[in-house]
Amino acid sequence: MKRHSGQDRSITQNWRPATLAVRGGTARSEYGETSEAMFLTSGYCYDRAEDAAARFAGEQTGMTYSRLQNPTVEMLEQRIALLEGAEACRTMATGMAAMTAVLLCQLQQGDHVVAGRAAFGSCRWLVDTLLPKFGIQSTTVDARDPQAFEDVVRPNTKVFFFETPANPTMDVVDLRAVCGIARERGITSVVDNAFATPALQRPMEFGADVTAYSATKMMDGQGRVLAGAVCGTQDFIDNTLLPFTRNTGPTLSAFNAWVVLKGLETLDLRIRRQSENALAVGRFLEARVPRILHPGLPSHPQHELAMSQMSAVGGIFAFEVEDRAQAHALLNALELIDISNNIGDSRSLMTHPASTTHYGVSAEARAEMGVTEGLLRLNVGLEDPQDLIDDLDRALRQVGL
Ligand SMILES: Cc1ncc(COP(=O)(O)O)c(C=O)c1O
Repeated sequence: MKRHSGQDRSITQNWRPATLAVRGGTARSEYGETSEAMFLTSGYCYDRAEDAAARFAGEQTGMTYSRLQNPTVEMLEQRIALLEGAEACRTMATGMAAMTAVLLCQLQQGDHVVAGRAAFGSCRWLVDTLLPKFGIQSTTVDARDPQAFEDVVRPNTKVFFFETPANPTMDVVDLRAVCGIARERGITSVVDNAFATPALQRPMEFGADVTAYSATKMMDGQGRVLAGAVCGTQDFIDNTLLPFTRNTGPTLSAFNAWVVLKGLETLDLRIRRQSENALAVGRFLEARVPRILHPGLPSHPQHELAMSQMSAVGGIFAFEVEDRAQAHALLNALELIDISNNIGDSRSLMTHPASTTHYGVSAEARAEMGVTEGLLRLNVGLEDPQDLIDDLDRALRQVGL
């Protein structure tokens, strides 16, 4: 039986991404199940007291406690690491648990972080509010400009932290340039790759040190569970991240890990179809709304950069109408597309970031990052794009656009 082939790097190194997404990390039990087993257990037993002691001492391989290891969770970690092209991965309970852990595990009082100013609301909160509480300074920059990072670097700068494309304005960061600046100065670059996933963009190939994910989004892909992940070198995961997470406990449940394992099997298919659908919907909207922020469209100022580091742009983009009243009216007029602040789902979802995902960000920061009162973010799902266009067409007419 090919019981452990999905975990054997000498075998998986020859597999292409689509194969890794289905089989990478699989470790079959003695029953030879085809689908990965779900190990819903918090603890593990030992034959002898000496075995328990040896496992705690790190002298014997095996599980000790599901806050620290779980066979289902480990299968997911191996699969994500293989897809990412990373030495190692550690999953977390949510994307925000991953972002919090990846920052706090490597920063201490007196350190400085440079972060992209366009970011998911809670990521901005980490940078603007949480880090300074612990004496960690932070500066936010327009991450579309690599020079902006260089200009604010200080001797105590330890981390560059940014999303590309960013939520919700779709700012694209030049990975090679920004990660290169970080490398030259011994700064760790941390890329939140939730929108693209390794199916469309592998930041480490452009010099990123660490990638972090909300696996709640495209990796699950069907709006079912919350999950997060951090990928990096074995040394970073074992010696920097793990001491933090083992003791603070933002662990992913085996059930959620199993759901994401199943999600990864179809990630490539879903994200490519959603990218195509989003382009079709984007082309329609481009002619109908005052402004569209979709890097997959040739009219977008960062289109060439996006296409040079991504194989497709994904299913999410943003556009602007006049103001909040018109944005809310448009949402309310939709019949097929749901009003929802989630993304990465196979259903099309639309939200008004200023009053939802970015409500907790100060008005000043919202203005600075381009989250205007008329901005709407659309997650294009797997429905027939013509049905989505028909829904938008009717709703736009209703609000006078
Ligand atoms: C770019 C980005 N990073 C992180 C997160 C947080 O992920 P989670 O909701 O899984 O905690 C989100 C959620 O929307 C996101 O869009």
